[in-house]
Formats: sequence, C-alpha cells, structure tokens
Amino acid sequence: MTYVDAAVAPLRKTGQIKVYGPAAFAGMRKAGRLAAECLDMLADEIRPGVTTDRIDRLVYEFGNDHGTAPATLMYRGYRKATCTSVNHVVCHGIPSEKPLREGDIVNVDVTLIVDGWHGDSSRMYAIGEIPRRAERLIDVTYEAMMRGIAVIKPGATTGDIGHAIQSFVEAQHMSVVRDFCGHGLGRLFHDEPNIVHVGRPGEGIVLKSGMFFTVEPMINLGRPHVKVLSDGWTAVTRDRSLSAQFEHSVGVTETGVEVFTLSPKGYTKPPYKG
Ligand code: MF3
Ligand code: CO
Ligand code: CO
Repeated sequence: MTYVDAAVAPLRKTGQIKVYGPAAFAGMRKAGRLAAECLDMLADEIRPGVTTDRIDRLVYEFGNDHGTAPATLMYRGYRKATCTSVNHVVCHGIPSEKPLREGDIVNVDVTLIVDGWHGDSSRMYAIGEIPRRAERLIDVTYEAMMRGIAVIKPGATTGDIGHAIQSFVEAQHMSVVRDFCGHGLGRLFHDEPNIVHVGRPGEGIVLKSGMFFTVEPMINLGRPHVKVLSDGWTAVTRDRSLSAQFEHSVGVTETGVEVFTLSPKGYTKPPYKG
C-alpha cells in the first residue's frame, strides 16, 4: 500500500492500489463536478431526432470551452469524446449519424480530464416516452449503483459492493453484466482495482480510505451475456434485450464515501427536470 501525493501520482499502473490525500481529493472533486455538469447540460439537448454524433460534439465543445480534453479521444484507438450506448448496446457504443427515436434509451458516458485528474460518469437518457419495461430497467440500474456505493467505507470489500448490486438486481429478475467492470482512476483513466458488479460479502479487496474508483453496473433485462461487434468496441446483449448503465466516480473517506460526480442540478435518473 502506497500513499500517493497528488503532485507525484504515477502515470502508469504500479500493481498496487493507490491511496490518495487531500490534494488529490480536491482534484477529483473538480474533474468529477465538470463531468457531472456536462451530463446535466445534455439533459436539455437529448430528444427525438438528435444524433449520437451531435451529443458527442456537444460534449467535445463543452470540454473545449472549459479547457479540458475528453479522456476517450484517441484512447486505445477510440476516436470519440463519448460512448453512446442505445437500447441493447451494453457499453462502448460509438457515436454515429443515426438519429435517436422516440422510445429509445441511451447511456452517455463522459470522462473529462481536469488538471490531470479523471472525472468519469455516465447516465441514462430517455428519448420521449419510453416503454414501461425500459423505465423499470433504468430505475433498477440507478438504484443498483447507489446500493453499491452505499456500502463503501474503510474495511468493506469489493465483494460487498458486488453483492449489494447483484442481490438487488437479481431479486428484480434482471441480470448483471460480468464482462465489464468499474475501475480505479485518478491521474490514470483505468487503474487497479477492478470493481466487479457481482460478488459475495467479505470477498475481494479490502477498501481503504483514500482509494478512488468507479461504480458503473451494466444491467440487462434478459441474460447477462454480451458480445462485441466487429468494430471492436460496441458491446451488445447476446439476446438483444435492453441494457442500462449508470456510473459515478467515488473516493473512500475515513467515514464512508464521497461521490465526485454528483449532479450540481440534482439530476439522478430520467426524467431530468431542472
Ligand atoms: N468511460 C468508460 C468507462 O467508464 C471507458 C470508455 S473507453 C473508450 O470506463 F475507449 F471506449 F471510450
Ligand atoms: Co469508468
Ligand atoms: Co465511463
């Protein structure tokens, strides 16, 4: 276990889970807030007829206006400012010229780098009126993320987080995706530890004050299995059932957890009303 000062946080994986101090918390607070403001801004823009490319451009311009860069741009060959995952797309949907239609649901995932710190967050948006089962999926996914976050404190484990999410979701007869997980972050976009969204109480890594990571469960109405399309990114449900996701970036505090990506407007899940 190493304590990492904000100024000298390594820019590569070290094989150890980093523990950060007050200056790093301040950095993550700023980056997280900007990502959340960006997602707030999108609430007024996402409606039937809007393309996911247009959403991507709005995020790029928002970042630019605030002197920041989206972390996904040129990340491992990815060329967009966001991931936009529509309906049965689980994650890593690539923005395109295809317009969103009434009844669609879309996850927009934004990571902005502020002073070197990564604020990573995603939310679901409903396009006009959506089917009741889509609404239920979104509600369960949001609640699952929040239940996972609620158990975070020093001494709890990553298995406790996974268990809180999995037990709730499966009781609603929905499923938790296994192929993608949350991740440590800070000056790195993706770092140790992996935050798996299924698990058993007491298993996994013991959480310590000063750890930073995301909680970002992907929940399916059908089976949990996914496949990645030939573009190398887009992950879809194998059974083509609807999928939803929310994501917060958090830090473990002495007493519990701080969520860095809370909405300044108080938005949680759709419908977003200012
Ligand atoms: N923002 C995603 C996450 O939550 C990662 C996207 S990587 C990309 O970890 F290359 F697909 F954009
Ligand atoms: Co993430
Ligand atoms: Co993300």
